[in-house]
Amino acid sequence: MDSLCILVLAAGKGTRFKSHRVKVLHELMGKPMLSWILESVSGLDPEKVYVVVGCQKEEVKREINRKDVAFVHQAEQLGTANAVLAAKDAIKTDLDKDILIINGDLPLLRAETLKALVGKHKREKNDLTFMSAEMENPTGFGRLIFDKEGKVKIVEEREATPEQKKIKEANVGIYVFNAGALLKTLPAISNDNKKGEYYLTDAVEILSQKGSRVGVFQTESPEEIVGVNDRFELASAARKLRLRKIKMLAEEGITFYDPESTWIGEDVKIGMDSVVYPSVVIEGKTVIGKECVLSPSVHIMDSHIGDGVKILSSTVIQESLIEDHVKVGPFAHLRPETVLKKGSKVGNFVEMKKTVFGEKSKAGHLSYLGDSIVGKEVNIGAGTITCNYDGKKKHRTVIEDGAFIGSGVELVAPVKIGKNAYIGAGSTITKDVPPYSLAVSRSPQKQRKDWGRKRRKD
Ligand code: UD1
Ligand code: CA
Repeated sequence: MDSLCILVLAAGKGTRFKSHRVKVLHELMGKPMLSWILESVSGLDPEKVYVVVGCQKEEVKREINRKDVAFVHQAEQLGTANAVLAAKDAIKTDLDKDILIINGDLPLLRAETLKALVGKHKREKNDLTFMSAEMENPTGFGRLIFDKEGKVKIVEEREATPEQKKIKEANVGIYVFNAGALLKTLPAISNDNKKGEYYLTDAVEILSQKGSRVGVFQTESPEEIVGVNDRFELASAARKLRLRKIKMLAEEGITFYDPESTWIGEDVKIGMDSVVYPSVVIEGKTVIGKECVLSPSVHIMDSHIGDGVKILSSTVIQESLIEDHVKVGPFAHLRPETVLKKGSKVGNFVEMKKTVFGEKSKAGHLSYLGDSIVGKEVNIGAGTITCNYDGKKKHRTVIEDGAFIGSGVELVAPVKIGKNAYIGAGSTITKDVPPYSLAVSRSPQKQRKDWGRKRRKD
């Protein structure tokens, strides 16, 4: 599409949010509301994207931080037409170009829907084309009113008569203007209305009455149209985004037993025939392979999971790499930079950090492995702990292939356990153990015969 300039209106505070933060920075599924709309408009390949900021403009600039976006400043929030006026210098660079103006509180909108609107505008060579939606309940939205000659205007909810409020066709808050026509119209908009604001929606009536070409594009996807004004609307928009992602994955062959309770981030990928139980949360740039099982309440962030992996209940995984056919959990915690090699097993209440855990190795119960390198087919007994921190520095533990670590062992790092070595249960290991050796370090057991009998007589 040739020379399209985009203006996102995001200067308002969002009074109905009752928040110290501006509305457009409130998050849906881990991303600020404004980022969702910027993501969709970037699908139009625009020449330039401007965001009108006002309330908390520095915070908005900092959090959005995108190279493809320029910010313009609206000093006082005097209404949507005044917000457009703030970008006057950007609009007037080329009076022939088209300019897409879009409210910043439309996180569900898809690029395809915007493309269809712009397509109609170009085809019909309009001065203004704006989007409408037929809604079950249009409360809060401006309504479209056509006169006998077919000329259209928008009446805001608060200005509408009871009869007008019954109209189901609502203004969405997305407009494509010819830049020249827009600049001529803005000065004609007054603030003579109930809110005392300059309404951009008045441009529709002004252009229409002047006989300019005004087109209405009624979207076929009204479910994308929300104008998030309060936190309950934010929650319901977030729910729709969540279900949209899950539906897409379900269509690609992934089973979700309870989509309502499941949270899958926008950038997450999951392979075919994987199964997702209730209350699973997967965030960030996580990739999950084929035929995996994610049990209830599993939480995964920014991780890479291979094929055929079983992750049991209430396991937390952060920035880790898990190879094929691994079994993890229940109640395991894999902290950043953990690598579980093929076929390994990590069980109940095991925590790992910066640890490479070798092929077919097992750590079944109640262990902590930090800053460790563990070879193949190693057995880590219940309650084994790497003492990796001396109060100042972290130290490394190396356990070579085939080693057997008994239960309740403390490995005081830096320390190395050689290939096929054995460590007796309950040992505190402070020195390297050579391959094939047995190391035991515990005080010998004392026994006092009949001690119990004597005690009972006392
Ligand atoms: C607006 C429309 C209404 C439409 C609805 C769709 C107007 C007058 N009304 O109403 O017809 O049905 O959107 O959701 O436009 N903003 C600024 N500067 C301002 C005021 C607002 O940048 O001075 C921004 C806000 O940050 C927001 C957007 O403009 O992102 C829309 O403002 P909002 O107050 O949500 O408008 P609505 O009352 O919802
Ligand atoms: Ca709104």
